[in-house]
Amino acid sequence: MERLEGMIKDRTAVIGVVGLGYVGLPLATIFASKGFTVIGADIKTDVVDKINRGESPINEPGLGEILSTVVNGKRLTATTDGAKAVRAADILFLVVQTPITKDKEPDLSNFKAAWTTVSENLSPGKLLVSESTIPPGTMKGVVAPILESSGLLAGRDFHLAYSPERAIPTRTLIEMQENGRVVGGFTDTGAELAALAYSQITSGAITKVDIETAEMVKVIENAYRDVNIAFANEIAMLCEKRGVDASQVIDLANKHPRVNIHSPGPGVGGHCIPKDPHFLLHSARECGIELKLISTARRINESMPEHILRLIKKSLHDSNKDPRTAKVSIMGIAYKGNTDDSRNSPAEPIVRGLMAEHFNVISHDPYVSRDFGGAFSNDINHVLEDSDCVVFVADHDDYRDIDLKKFKGAINPTCVVVDSRRLFDPRSFDGEMIKYVGLGR
Ligand SMILES: NC(=O)c1ccc[n+]([C@@H]2O[C@H](COP(=O)([O-])OP(=O)(O)OC[C@H]3O[C@@H](n4cnc5c(N)ncnc54)[C@H](O)[C@@H]3O)[C@@H](O)[C@H]2O)c1
Repeated sequence: MERLEGMIKDRTAVIGVVGLGYVGLPLATIFASKGFTVIGADIKTDVVDKINRGESPINEPGLGEILSTVVNGKRLTATTDGAKAVRAADILFLVVQTPITKDKEPDLSNFKAAWTTVSENLSPGKLLVSESTIPPGTMKGVVAPILESSGLLAGRDFHLAYSPERAIPTRTLIEMQENGRVVGGFTDTGAELAALAYSQITSGAITKVDIETAEMVKVIENAYRDVNIAFANEIAMLCEKRGVDASQVIDLANKHPRVNIHSPGPGVGGHCIPKDPHFLLHSARECGIELKLISTARRINESMPEHILRLIKKSLHDSNKDPRTAKVSIMGIAYKGNTDDSRNSPAEPIVRGLMAEHFNVISHDPYVSRDFGGAFSNDINHVLEDSDCVVFVADHDDYRDIDLKKFKGAINPTCVVVDSRRLFDPRSFDGEMIKYVGLGR
């Protein structure tokens, strides 16, 4: 304990980070920027090569600059050799993806494989911390047995902790250094050492708890957000029917000092909220309990792309557009604004649904260069040209600033704008031929 404590305090401890994605790379970069020597491991050669050139493989504000400084200063190196990173590290953070299967069960295959590499290369005295989101009970029930197959005992020969990540993409660097953290220890010493390590990078309050409490905290945080969004989506659908504006209703309700309703939208994407509630549902099933509110919220949010599809088709029909020839422009492939992350993006079922009905679909995104079918272009003029229906799916700031009237010459003057994120003031379309349809009004 004293040896690691001293090495954390004087920043001579070598930090290993396994998994250099949206969470792992910023974490590794921040530790390196605080003076630690960091070795990061990832199985993707292109990711490792890019990092070693000082270039960020992800679009995260501010990351590229700090990364190039710490790589050039030899504070951070990346490798595809996970064993090497494990052997070199005094403190190891594991941050690999933990998705769900097609049947919506936890898919811990990457997570278990990564811990197996750790186990095979483990030596006494290290602190091992998981940041990957997992079903409650996984650290004790899955990770500890994998690690102890090395012959070393958790809590006696090495320290083990779990600390969920709360940073939000596009603000990751700020939040990782300011957010409070929950740190769960396999033992009290594990929690204390992990808390000391995190206190080197964040000014936020750090709370030490047992390991399963920390696992539970993470999944309920995201299940809470999912339920709140589902509530907003139900209100939006009711408001549409009653001719009331849900955005206004929610804004006004939020003026109540104890109300905080999230915004309705086209569905919930990204790597976290769509799957973390399923970890909780899995955990409940293991205990023979059904979590009806959480599973209903998931179903509501999963049905939102269908609702947007209905809005698109109804708007085209009401404007007498022929669905066989109508050009539909999808604005935003990313799952939310200002990110290049398109995992579980609601744009995917929307595009695929339109393609299945043979619409002429073209997609645009300023940060993502992939499509979910149909045509794709980064050229906004080309995407908007002669469009019959422009559907705003991601809330990129670039879109908020668009003056659609500026594109008047290019856009079909009788086009319909379907705004699933309520980016625009409906009044700005008053007196225009362009028709405006906003989710929840
Ligand atoms: N993205 C977020 O905003 C966020 C926020 C909080 C928590 N989380 C959680 O953090 C974890 C990581 O999420 P992410 O978005 O960074 O995922 P990611 O897919 O961006 O990154 C994971 C990385 O791990 C690598 N990897 C997989 N197996 C490996 C192995 N055996 N050895 C080395 N590298 C390996 C992958 O190649 C990938 O680059 C997940 O459990 C997620 O739920 C994510």
